Amino acid sequence: MTKYFYIETYGCQMNIYDSDIICSILLKSGFIKTSNLKKADLILLNTCSIREKPEKKIFNRFIEIRFLKKQNKNLKIGIVGCLATHYKNKIFEKFKFIDLIVGPDSYKNIPAMIKKLNTKNKEIDVRLANKERYSNIIPNGVRNGISAFISIMRGCDNMCTFCIVPYTRGREKSRNPNSILKECKLLYKKGYKEIILLGQNVDAYFWQNIKFFQLLELIATTVPFMRIRFLTSYPSNISKNLLKVVKKYSNICKHFHLPMQSGSPRILSLMRRKYTVEEFLLIIKMIKQMIPDCSISSDIMTGFCTETQEDHIETIRIMNIIKFNYSYMFKYSSRQGTYASRKLKDNVPNSLKLSRLNEIIRIQRSHSFYRLKQNIGKIQEVLIEGISKKDENYYFGRNYNNDIIVFQKDKSHIGSYKKVKIINSTLTTLIGEIIP
Ligand code: 5AD
Ligand code: SF4
Repeated sequence: MTKYFYIETYGCQMNIYDSDIICSILLKSGFIKTSNLKKADLILLNTCSIREKPEKKIFNRFIEIRFLKKQNKNLKIGIVGCLATHYKNKIFEKFKFIDLIVGPDSYKNIPAMIKKLNTKNKEIDVRLANKERYSNIIPNGVRNGISAFISIMRGCDNMCTFCIVPYTRGREKSRNPNSILKECKLLYKKGYKEIILLGQNVDAYFWQNIKFFQLLELIATTVPFMRIRFLTSYPSNISKNLLKVVKKYSNICKHFHLPMQSGSPRILSLMRRKYTVEEFLLIIKMIKQMIPDCSISSDIMTGFCTETQEDHIETIRIMNIIKFNYSYMFKYSSRQGTYASRKLKDNVPNSLKLSRLNEIIRIQRSHSFYRLKQNIGKIQEVLIEGISKKDENYYFGRNYNNDIIVFQKDKSHIGSYKKVKIINSTLTTLIGEIIP
């Protein structure tokens, strides 16, 4: 009988949230969670296939956990998440020791599938149901007890030519606002201080007549003592209405995550992004005009199909104009099934993708440092999230711009808000002191 389950999560925040959903489903069905891999009768890997690198890491992990089956004959191993919908049955063919494959829309079926595994060899469910939003499941969030994720929509309709998400997570589906508000209130009651709203493209949120800016306002007023963050924003979907709401409510963080991907008009068009470079710059300008202290982060990719040195230089030029607060940067990897993998030439040599990546990382570092230094001398409200990993005499927390700040501990509690004066900055972190 399968009793103890262990779950390991790879990839984005949405996967972390989904793992909590899976935990809730399993706990409700009588399973017991364990953090001890060797004690588990069921091991689930919640996987990511957005790029080649994380995928390789997960495949290596498969090999590592395989030997556990020798020690526990009843052990079942399941692959859930994006890799499941991406490779489907092929996973069984390549990795014979895997028993269960479940896609992001089928988590409610896991308990029934496990029961069937007692008599059958393998179980797979990778259907992408257009309806599944997990609205009635409260995730079993334990993390740091301060900050919690809430998924407001799942999937993506954008079909950027490089991206596997529309295939692994399916079409966009927004969640009923009542169930979102219920979850917010419950988190508040449990003592959480911060909510991070999640969606591949939060601005596409749509429920009957409620758009994202209206949902955000509803949340900000329903839990006025909680901080609210959201990600990811699709650049051309940012509206004045949204900016007005972000500006109006002091509990909404002043930060947008706006993936630019490239600064070359030609590459943006090949990626089928729905904005031009000029439009992207105008969006940034509009944000900064309405909310001058707003921070902006981005995702940038190097070496997309046919990217030339000129395209790369354009990306650097635009980065130098905007100076993002921080960016997640990647080298392009072709994903089977996407438009790019079928129709475009992945012709930039790996070494060039990598050297371009290293160059933009270096440039972004200098921009991050420049942005961080702008905070020196300011007094900011910081939510204390925990004890600094580097020095136990220091707390760490975040300001409204999502910058990390460390400061010497005093009697304040983790989870409280404190006024902190920023006195210095390293390349990645602000250093402050609590205002008594
Ligand atoms: N190769 C490299 N990076 C990718 N991303 C998405 N697909 C790919 C890919 N095939 C990046 C994009 C996206 C982020 C989540 O991952 O920058 O915004
Ligand atoms: Fe992928 Fe584009 Fe959707 Fe982002 S917006 S998840 S990059 S298809």
